[in-house]
Amino acid sequence: MAHATESVRQALEQAVVAALEADGVIADTRTFCQTKDVEHEELVAVLNSMVRRDLVRLEALDAEAFYELTEEGQRYAEHGTPEHLLGAALRAAPASLPAVSDLPALLQQVSSSHGVADAEVAAADTWRQRATIGMQQGIKQGVFRLDKSQKPPRLVLAVAADDGWQRIHKLCAALRALQDRHADQETTDAATWETALRRGLVIKRLRKAYRARPGARFAEARVQQLTDLTRDMLLDHSWESVHFKPFNFAAPGTAPMEGGRLHPLLKVCEQFRRIFLEMGFTEMDRSHYVESSFWNFDALFQPQQHPARDAHDTFFLSEPASCVRLGDGDVREREYVERVRQVHERGGYGSLGYRYTWSEAEARTCILRTHTTAVSARMLYRIAQEQRERAPGSAFTPRRLFSIDRVFRNETLDATHLAEFHQVEGLVAAPHLSLADLKGIIAQFFRRIGMPRLRFKPAHNPYTEPSMEIFAFHPELNKWVEIGNSGIFRPEMLLPMQLPPEVRVIAWGLSVERPTMILYGMRNIRDLFGHRVDLNTIRHHPVCRIGWE
Ligand code: PHE
Repeated sequence: MAHATESVRQALEQAVVAALEADGVIADTRTFCQTKDVEHEELVAVLNSMVRRDLVRLEALDAEAFYELTEEGQRYAEHGTPEHLLGAALRAAPASLPAVSDLPALLQQVSSSHGVADAEVAAADTWRQRATIGMQQGIKQGVFRLDKSQKPPRLVLAVAADDGWQRIHKLCAALRALQDRHADQETTDAATWETALRRGLVIKRLRKAYRARPGARFAEARVQQLTDLTRDMLLDHSWESVHFKPFNFAAPGTAPMEGGRLHPLLKVCEQFRRIFLEMGFTEMDRSHYVESSFWNFDALFQPQQHPARDAHDTFFLSEPASCVRLGDGDVREREYVERVRQVHERGGYGSLGYRYTWSEAEARTCILRTHTTAVSARMLYRIAQEQRERAPGSAFTPRRLFSIDRVFRNETLDATHLAEFHQVEGLVAAPHLSLADLKGIIAQFFRRIGMPRLRFKPAHNPYTEPSMEIFAFHPELNKWVEIGNSGIFRPEMLLPMQLPPEVRVIAWGLSVERPTMILYGMRNIRDLFGHRVDLNTIRHHPVCRIGWE
């Protein structure tokens, strides 16, 4: 029998409690389970568990016998016993009485026309056994006779065998009655059960019935079981004394109507990622939200007194306030840090430098990175090291790299500014790249995101020269909108890393939020990102397509 789920058992327990409360007794578990339409065994299991908790007491009533079909009995119940089937076969073929050796085949044939389930597939042995059973039982009941005057002997129908056939039909009817439980088993006579038992078609079982009364701790079964733990219960400590309903881990639950949805920003990020990958770019390891000022600014030749580096623009960490790993225990990195100091203080590589005293303590301050160009800087340094480790004179392997990740700025929050947002950054490092390459690759990239009309405007970044802001034409707004920033990394940034001098690195960056807002027609960035975002907006956003073409 299938096991009842926990919730079925709980419901049954509740029904028992209710009945005991109303009547003080459940007089007979058999009638109780008929009214509740549950299996007797299930009810007994629940009662036993209640007995263990002293919630009820049980008193055994007279056991009641009942019969259960065996596997063989089951088979006969459906289409009749073998002697019944064999009788049908003999009646259908009176002209040529079958030899005993023909009986198995004959039984198989008639079984199949009676719809016996395994009639086509059971083995020859099986049919021999069944034919033997049918023959022997039929002879025993006096409905068949073996005519030995013929060689080989033939099985014939006996004359005046009505009593025998009646017994056979009674047995078949009894088995059928057992099979469909509603049939009345009481009408079956003792002799028929006797036969069925002897032939192993049924087994006799006892159903122990009980009378149930409230147990010593019945009151506990009645206490209300709570399903919710509230703040008030925590505050007044009442949670310690109330009873909670146990979790029902077996409940099938209902399928969530609203599954998880990707945030529109994530969809846009994924689109950017795909475009970069299609263009043969590789994603950089971008796993530092917390960065040292060194990699975020100094390595990028951004002077230490640059306004972007103060607390009005950048988030500084108080714990840890200072980064411990900067060229410590790594001779090459230490040398690199020294070259960065020199290029800031005195210049070099054809540059005059900024002419101030560079502070390593300042470079070690921990910040939340303000742009993904910090990721690019780390990566370019690593590439330079890899190149140095190769055989002298080895050709530089050009790289196409990108990153998409979160950055942080200490902004005054308004409709278009958040303190954290996402940046997309692409770079190409190869010998002798020019501004034309930069414009070409940017044009390719923006065409793919659906912004084919571009304009470049000269701009300034501490780490690129020349630098260009990127504007794209928005046909619906009918105007040029600023969409990104770009440039060629300065020698003051690349040469201290010891990249080969002929290697140029062209790069561009843009925020994810800006094109997304334009794309989805949003006026306020806070509708897109942060705690004020409407969940319905996220749920019902269409599939993202970057670009306004
Ligand atoms: N880091 C720049 C910014 O935050 C974008 C940029 C990336 C500019 C690469 C030039 C080169 O806006």
